[in-house]
Amino acid sequence: MTVLQTEGLTKVYTSQGKVATRALSNFSLEVKKGEFVGIMGPSGSGKTTLLNLLATIDRPTAGKVLIEGVDTAALKGSQLAAFRRRKLGFVFQDFNLLDTLTIGENIALPLVLERLAPREIQAAVQEVAGQLGIGDILDKYPYEVSGGQQQRAAAARAIIHRPAVILADEPTGNLDSRAARELMETFSHLNRSQGATIVMVTHDPFAASFCRRIIFIRDGQRHSELHRGESRQLFFQRILDALSLMGGGNGEPEAPGL
Ligand SMILES: Nc1ncnc2c1ncn2[C@@H]1O[C@H](COP(=O)(O)OP(=O)(O)OP(=O)(O)O)[C@@H](O)[C@H]1O
Ligand SMILES: [Mg+2]
Repeated sequence: MTVLQTEGLTKVYTSQGKVATRALSNFSLEVKKGEFVGIMGPSGSGKTTLLNLLATIDRPTAGKVLIEGVDTAALKGSQLAAFRRRKLGFVFQDFNLLDTLTIGENIALPLVLERLAPREIQAAVQEVAGQLGIGDILDKYPYEVSGGQQQRAAAARAIIHRPAVILADEPTGNLDSRAARELMETFSHLNRSQGATIVMVTHDPFAASFCRRIIFIRDGQRHSELHRGESRQLFFQRILDALSLMGGGNGEPEAPGL
């Protein structure tokens, strides 16, 4: 089943009525239920632009975003907000937890917004926190736990309402290598054992190697695609090769050619 689909997605940023940047051009993408897809490409290639369009945070200049077959352009205002809340889960680079809420309250947020009964919410928080190995920090505040734990809490919040798709923009960007590995193992586990559908933007070939498929983007266009075989280590090598072929490898701007 197709969960997420774009058709001819185009985003042109304008400033004072003039075209400033064509950030995304005619970008088509289809993500099936249970996929774990990585989006990679040089800095400025349009990855965040794409994710914001998928997230319905931003509107395309042309083209469509369909989520579970629903054309998101048809939704407005509170309808769109409710759709986004129910169908999508977000994980950002900087965790985005609310400092005034405990970890448990942060995780519960999507269900609180849906006005579920407190008992049901408690049970769901316990379950998801247990799966992500953060069951023992639910009463702590975000500033009392590590970055890795905060990001796993953000992941728990992103999945607690079983969204159609989890969208992650550089989720390992602020984590040390151990926490990054743990988060990616968590994502893999959610993907394999629960069939969670994940679309993740990343610069990091190691994080990307946990995906099942990588779409490379360059200058706002689809450039190439890799599928993972069985070995993650081998996939990691193939990702490195693809990045070096594409140039501007790890998302750094290309050398200015002195
Ligand atoms: N709000 C905006 N207004 C104008 N131009 C923008 C805006 N946001 C992004 N751009 C431009 O659109 C292009 C794509 O930007 P985007 O942020 O999508 O790249 P990215 O692939 O996420 O880069 P990075 O790896 O550095 O995060 C860039 O040229 C950028 O300068
Ligand atoms: Mg970006």
